[in-house]
Amino acid sequence: MSTTTSPQRIGLFGFGVVGQGLFDVLHRTPGLQTEITRICVKNRSKSRPIPASHFTYERNDILDDPNIDVVVELIDDADAAFEIVSKALRVGKSVVTANKRLVATRLRELLDIQMETGSSLLYEASTCGSIPIIRNLEEYYDNDMLSRVEGIVNGTTNYILTALHEPASTGYASALAQAQVLGFAESDPTLDVEAFDAAFKTTIIAAHAFGVVVNPTQIVRRGITTITPFDVSIAQQQSRTIKLLSRVQLHGNGLSLLALPALSQNASPLAGIRNEVNAVRLTAAFSDAQLLVGKGAGGGPTASAVLSDIAALRYGYRYEYKKLNQASRPVVGHNVETVVYVRGTNEQITSIPFSVIDVDHRSSRGRYVIGHVQLDALHKSAAFQDPETFIAIVPED
Ligand SMILES: NC(=O)c1ccc[n+]([C@@H]2O[C@H](COP(=O)([O-])OP(=O)(O)OC[C@H]3O[C@@H](n4cnc5c(N)ncnc54)[C@H](OP(=O)(O)O)[C@@H]3O)[C@@H](O)[C@H]2O)c1
Repeated sequence: MSTTTSPQRIGLFGFGVVGQGLFDVLHRTPGLQTEITRICVKNRSKSRPIPASHFTYERNDILDDPNIDVVVELIDDADAAFEIVSKALRVGKSVVTANKRLVATRLRELLDIQMETGSSLLYEASTCGSIPIIRNLEEYYDNDMLSRVEGIVNGTTNYILTALHEPASTGYASALAQAQVLGFAESDPTLDVEAFDAAFKTTIIAAHAFGVVVNPTQIVRRGITTITPFDVSIAQQQSRTIKLLSRVQLHGNGLSLLALPALSQNASPLAGIRNEVNAVRLTAAFSDAQLLVGKGAGGGPTASAVLSDIAALRYGYRYEYKKLNQASRPVVGHNVETVVYVRGTNEQITSIPFSVIDVDHRSSRGRYVIGHVQLDALHKSAAFQDPETFIAIVPED
């Protein structure tokens, strides 16, 4: 690893929530000897909180500047981000990004470019904001045999679900509206509430924890939009709490990947993670279960992870993707028996090939079943594709 003591010169793309957070954080950590040389943004008519002389609208003002060593990519457009990041790596600059959609959907290409160029791409902030999960998977869990990585990786849905479990809750629509007013949900919340964001993060975790590169479309994914007070009351009667769970789990040589609602036991550490907080629980052979908890979004927490990556570049840090290169890697597959809660119509429920049914409840409030089914069969069922059903896994711990 090479180290440098000369000041790092940064070209920053994006000056929104995270870009401004980074600008602020860097000004409060002068010891790092890092300066933002130029900031590239998009909208020429937007007013900015700092002088116009900091900004450019031409990406090549940064990418072609030989004095800039590090590109920090914090924009909200994954296609433009790929062009920026790939060119920056090709011209020999190190890159830090927070863009989970970019990393999850273009990981194979980004790996190839890193291999070709030898340039370093770091993206700790892309997965659970301030929680140092990628670096831990790369370094600390390098040798300990992981069997499962699971967590609450989306703050928006966790905020909404927490509100839905309050006695005064009036349902999903008002919980979402409340999250939007407080800035925890975007005006178009689809990526969060339909669990696309959680699937992106699950993809990134799978690469670093188990050495598999998948497309996010391979994740068994379903969001929380169909949840009703009835579902919450059933969970609460069973001493459980509904969470949106990201989970990557080994089953022998197979690996299942999901981003699904879950009826977590109240005794489970994940059930107690409230509001916009994120948590990741790692289960490994020797260290047993460990829990990392922290803020998964927001300018300051996300910028802290970006800052950590920038600092790591000073000593030449790069991901080695050791698990991608190991001789035997698990095979992605979902033919694993799973216990699930399904609330829906008779027709929807009978589309699921349960092997065992533990509970079949019918009342004027609705019908739900808790039963055992192969995860891939559930995924292919009409109920899973139906926009009205509510489906959640029922974890044992
Ligand atoms: N917000 C969070 O809490 C959080 C947490 C983790 C990860 N992230 C990730 O961090 C990234 C930034 O998120 P954000 O919340 O800071 O977004 P944001 O507030 O919407 O800001 C986006 C910025 O990107 C700029 N931009 C968009 N397209 C551009 C282009 N083609 N060239 C140059 N600049 C462009 C915008 O320019 P204008 O200012 O001119 O409009 C704006 O400054 C995203 O990938 C997001 O997924 C965010």
